Amino acid sequence: MGVVSLIGCGFVADLYMRSLQAMDGITVAGVYDQNSTRLVQFCAHWNVPLVGSLEQLLDQHPRDGVLLNLTNPSSHFEVNSACLAAGCHTYSEKPLAMNMDEAKALYAQANAAGLMLASAPCSVLGEAAQTLGHALRAGIAGAPRVIYAELDDGFVPQAAYKKWISESGAPWPFGDEFRVGCTLEHAGYYLGWLISWFGSVRTVVAASAETIPDKEGTGPYAPDVSVATLFFDNGPMTRLTCSIVAPHDHQIRVVGDNGVLACKAAWDNSAKVTFAKRMTLRRRLMESPFPKTLKLSQPTHPKVKRWGAAAMNFMLGPAEMLDAIRTGRPSRLSNDFALHMTEVTLAIQNAGETSGAQAMTTRCTPMEPMPWAM
Ligand SMILES: NC(=O)c1ccc[n+]([C@@H]2O[C@H](COP(=O)([O-])OP(=O)(O)OC[C@H]3O[C@@H](n4cnc5c(N)ncnc54)[C@H](O)[C@@H]3O)[C@@H](O)[C@H]2O)c1
Repeated sequence: MGVVSLIGCGFVADLYMRSLQAMDGITVAGVYDQNSTRLVQFCAHWNVPLVGSLEQLLDQHPRDGVLLNLTNPSSHFEVNSACLAAGCHTYSEKPLAMNMDEAKALYAQANAAGLMLASAPCSVLGEAAQTLGHALRAGIAGAPRVIYAELDDGFVPQAAYKKWISESGAPWPFGDEFRVGCTLEHAGYYLGWLISWFGSVRTVVAASAETIPDKEGTGPYAPDVSVATLFFDNGPMTRLTCSIVAPHDHQIRVVGDNGVLACKAAWDNSAKVTFAKRMTLRRRLMESPFPKTLKLSQPTHPKVKRWGAAAMNFMLGPAEMLDAIRTGRPSRLSNDFALHMTEVTLAIQNAGETSGAQAMTTRCTPMEPMPWAM
């Protein structure tokens, strides 16, 4: 189906390689990492071509392929910009950049060059998100009135994270994760779903705080808890929480006139999507204790077995871009989508204690569903 090259081959790169093995016809042209020990270890483990410099990687990368920027967030702007300057369609791990000025500069650079610039996560293209989107479009729950979405990871600073080692031997980068923060790292997992269904967020009312300042590693640390209320141009009011403090909870619930659509796992493409009809039993109003599992009628996409916290196909995003390039159609993971998701995420991350309401300056249309979810 196409060719990718990888820049950065740390913890997450192994999840991409595991996913790539599930996809037909995607090959790796080359891999580069500034850490040569890690680069050798990764390329030997996966038997993929090692490239000695970024310049060489960009030089040899086919222009109808996709460059995957899997570096640490502090390198995203510089590496994304270099990929675009070399004329390459770019899929960046989240966030696109660490601030809005840099994100807007990348967006302008990509548009001026007629290139695709997409941001992870791509779970929005996965079965669970598409099934929930299909149920919304079919009006199964009636008009959606409010959404609660949680991305709480448990009390991570007390977890045994030093034992979290990737398949080819990269340690989980806890210092970097704590400095970047769980909002920049994770809000996109549900923001992507929400923006794909409803389009632009008009206003963000949020607060964020660092509640565990004595985390291991070297600061300064980002907020470890955030709570946001999102107002869409065309969607229900939504509460989104992110934390590495509150007990693990990754559910999303869409409350409609007829009942509640729900999914309990953001990081599992095969997670069950359910509908609990609202009813009155004697004098009691309740949602059915026996929710119905919703399924799409067509086969969806290749699945990847759980590894660590995730059971996601990380290659759905790059595959979407490759297919768009090959067939000359727009990618669902559009440049507008990436920029808008970044703006909303940064607004939540940077909200702090007193920022109040933040009007969004970017816009994005709802996303075309995958063909098997029409
Ligand atoms: N760790 C996870 O479970 C996970 C899951 C999903 C997404 N992500 C995202 O993936 C990205 C990478 O995370 P990770 O956990 O793999 O980090 P990591 O620290 O394990 O790996 C990052 C790699 O990028 C390399 N790198 C950094 N700057 C570079 C540059 N300028 N040029 C070349 N190589 C460079 C580093 O040497 C390192 O090997 C982050 O954006 C993160 O948000 C991580």
